Parts: sequence; structure tokens; C-alpha cells
Amino acid sequence: MTIMFSDAAPAITEIGGTAVVFVAGDGTLSKAATAADDAMGGAIRRAFNAKKFKAKHGDTIAFPFPAGMKIDKLIAAGTGTDPQTATDARRLGGKIGAALGKMGASSATILAADMDDPTHIAEMAAGIRLRRYAFTKYKTKADAKSDHGEGNITVIAADKAKAEAAFIDANALAEGTFFTRDLVSEPANILYPDSFAERLETLADHGVEVVVLDEKQLEEIGMGSLLCVGLGSERESKVVVMKWNGADDANAAPFCAVGKGVTFDTGGISIKPAGGMEEMTMDMGGAGVVSGLMKTVAMRKAKANVVGIVGLVENMPDGKATRPGDIVTSLSGQTIEVINTDAEGRLVLADLLTYAQREFKPAATVNLATLTGAIIIALGNLNAGLFSNSDALSEQLADAAKAEGEGIWRLPLSKEYDDLIKSSLADMKNTGGRGAGSITAAQFLQRFVDDSPWAHIDIAGVTLSKEAKPLYPKGASGWGVATLNRLVRDIFEPSA
Ligand code: BES
Ligand code: MN
Ligand code: ZN
Repeated sequence: MTIMFSDAAPAITEIGGTAVVFVAGDGTLSKAATAADDAMGGAIRRAFNAKKFKAKHGDTIAFPFPAGMKIDKLIAAGTGTDPQTATDARRLGGKIGAALGKMGASSATILAADMDDPTHIAEMAAGIRLRRYAFTKYKTKADAKSDHGEGNITVIAADKAKAEAAFIDANALAEGTFFTRDLVSEPANILYPDSFAERLETLADHGVEVVVLDEKQLEEIGMGSLLCVGLGSERESKVVVMKWNGADDANAAPFCAVGKGVTFDTGGISIKPAGGMEEMTMDMGGAGVVSGLMKTVAMRKAKANVVGIVGLVENMPDGKATRPGDIVTSLSGQTIEVINTDAEGRLVLADLLTYAQREFKPAATVNLATLTGAIIIALGNLNAGLFSNSDALSEQLADAAKAEGEGIWRLPLSKEYDDLIKSSLADMKNTGGRGAGSITAAQFLQRFVDDSPWAHIDIAGVTLSKEAKPLYPKGASGWGVATLNRLVRDIFEPSA
């Protein structure tokens, strides 16, 4: 789908195809909506007065083959009564995208000439793209309903140049989010550590410095915890380090994002039951978000230093696989008794966290991982779980998530929970007891971080969606790219 902006407002009677006009929550029609309403003999006003179209934010109503115009489908979209944020505008675009999808319209003219804020126009356009995303790579018979990739959206704006300028940032987020969704949607026979790393190398086209560490290098570095996860796999484990150096001071301490990239999680020797195991192609969701973040900050040329680190491994059962009871030595030097080979994500992250802090001395580190089923029991699919050693970073993350409309909820860490992962043979074990599974996982990670601000976000419940939402279809959501992008912008970039 291509988005074009124009400030040559066409007469409503001259447009063909599908067009979208806007109505405020109190029933005030935009200029274009007024013209359409006049041509149709007052149909929009009648729908509003009859309360069939309340013009609440994101409400839409379709008028097929409207009288007095060449348009095939006219859509009136409500903008509500409350003052709008950029995120609201993006969601409005999402609702318009959904309405277009429902009608099978891939192209449309959006008549937004009296929307004042160019940022809102740009976000609305990006919202249409975000909602119309589809992963159709493996559908050999193009299905009109699911094929949302095609089409031209022309947005009529009062000031084309300003809308285009604002669209660079808004679209960078859409492109980064698509990168994440594509990675999460790929099956594990196509996306494995090596092919994942190859895709990340394409970020070099956007100015990201990409370094791929192979198994031999990881052994030399001493990542015994990360490497034990991939021992049962035919695929070589990889760690990819991505650097975006956008700050004026090239040596300024970076923001560091770390992601769990288990390209398939069978559970290993502690094998998972067959039912639903296919979902574990998404167990690289944390690495997917980190990758999407890197693409977004690079595409919008963020004035911040951002480092992304992902650990790419496949967790398989095999004669060479790690056994329950095995003891491994992590990069930090701490030893770990592997009680359950299905608690593998924390083993991957442990070494990445040590590596991140030793190599980069970050201003803050945030790791993302589809870490525990227990977080879905606690929070369902509505909130990601947040754990942190810093109240300030927690608040910054919660504020960023709120502003972007992504759910996040903080859970506790404490010495008492930490005691649950004591091992009689090694420095720690990789699972706690039956209770507090997400917290003991977070306690495990905290053993690998120093006192610098760190947060762990458990995204097991939000990485895939069973249903369409305003800004994504069913499937990979891309949750987290927007929140982290805003965190970078609001906290690590000089204010504009
Ligand atoms: N990848 C899973 C967690 C997961 C579950 C992600 C469901 C998405 C949906 C993780 O590696 C795992 O298997 N965790 C175990 C930990 C347990 C063995 C302590 C779990 O949650 O059951
Ligand atoms: Mn697992
Ligand atoms: Zn896993």
C-alpha cells in the first residue's frame, strides 16, 4: 500500500472510487463532508440525527454508490468530541483501515484538508497502513479479503509538505512494526538463527551497524548459558548486535534493548505437549521487537545512541541437547543448574544482559521476551508484564506505553522471591516452584544485571493476538515497538 499526500483538494463530485470524509462528535461536518452531504441530499446528517452514525471517535458509516457523485463508496468517519492526540489519530486511521478492508477497497482518497495538525494527518495515514498489514507470503491464491498489501491511499491535506515531513516519523514506526510482525509470523523452517541474522543485516541499508557473532565466537566470549539452549539443534546459535549511533555525542551511553530470540521452543528434553506447540514459532518475539525498534529509530534518524542485542537459538530435544540437572557456567561466571530445559529464555537473556552491560555501559537496559506462560495467567493478553530495579525507568516505560495505547503492568521483585531459585549444587537454578513463575523468571534475570537501570518486559501474552484490534489484524501485533520508540524519543533524545 502506498500513501500519497496532496494539497490539491478535488471537488467531491469529481472523485471516483472510495472516499473518506470526517464528522466531529457534535455533528459538525468537515468541508468535504458538507459537500458530500449536500450532493447526497443530506444523507450524512440524517444518519447522524437518526443516531445510526454517532460520529464518536473511530465510528464509520458507509454510503455505497452515493447519489450526485462519481464515488463508489463514501465513508464518513467520526472524530469524536475530545481533543485528539497523535495516538488517537493513528487509531482513527486504524478504524478507517478496518472499514476499507471490510468493503474490499484497497485504494481510497482521504479528505482531511481541515484536519489542522500535520502530525495527526501523518499518524492517521500510518494507522491505515498498520491496520491493513497482512502476512500473505505463503498464500498462493490471492484472497481479496486478506490481501491488504496493494492499493493507493491519497490523503488530501491542507499542507502537503508538512504532512509529508510528519509522515517520515509516523511511517518509520509502521515499517519497524511490520519488520517485527514479519519476523514473528515466519515459520521456524524459514526463520532460524542464521536466516534471522541475515534479515537483520539488511538494517545496514538504513545506517545500522550490524555485527553477527557465531557459535565459535560465543564460545570464546564465554556464553555458556546461552549456548546450552541450542545444543540439541542442527542450527548454529547466533547473537546479533545492532548499533544506531544518532546522538550528537557518539560516546554518550546508549539505550540498550535486548531480545529473546528462540526461533522455535519445543521445550528441549523437558518437551512441551503437542497441542499448541506450533505457536512456539513466536518465541523470538522479544528479538522481533528489538529488531523493529532498530529499524524505526534508524528510519527516523533518531538523535540517540541505541544498541539492540538479540540471542538467536533453537530449543530442540536431541542426543546432544542439555539435560535437566546439567550445570552450565554463564558469561558472568555464575553457575546455573538447569532444572527444566523449557525455561530456556532466561538462559539466553542472562548472557546477553551480562554482555550488554560489559560492552556498552548502557544508560538503561530493557529486555523483552516471551518468557513465561505464567504471565498470561496473571495478565491475560491485555498487558505485558513489567519488572524493574528502577522506579524511574518503570514510570518512563509505563508513561510511554500509555501514550502509545499499549498495555503494561508492573509486578514486584524482592529478595524473598529471589530465594526461590537457590540451588543446592550451583549458584542458582533456572526455575522456581509452582507459584510466581513470571517473578522468579525475572529474579533470575536480575542476577545478571548491575545497579544501572534495567527493566524486563514479559511479552508472552501480547505478541500474538487472537483477534483484530484497531491497529493490527489477528496474528503478530508488533507490541512494544511503539512504546520503546517513544521511550527513546522522550527520554534519550534532546527535546525538539
Ligand atoms: N516460551 C515459553 C513461554 C511462553 C508460553 C511463551 C506461552 C508464549 C506463550 C517459555 O520458554 C517457557 O516454556 N516457559 C515455561 C517456564 C517453566 C518451565 C518454568 C512456562 O512458562 O511454562
Ligand atoms: Mn520454553
Ligand atoms: Zn521459550
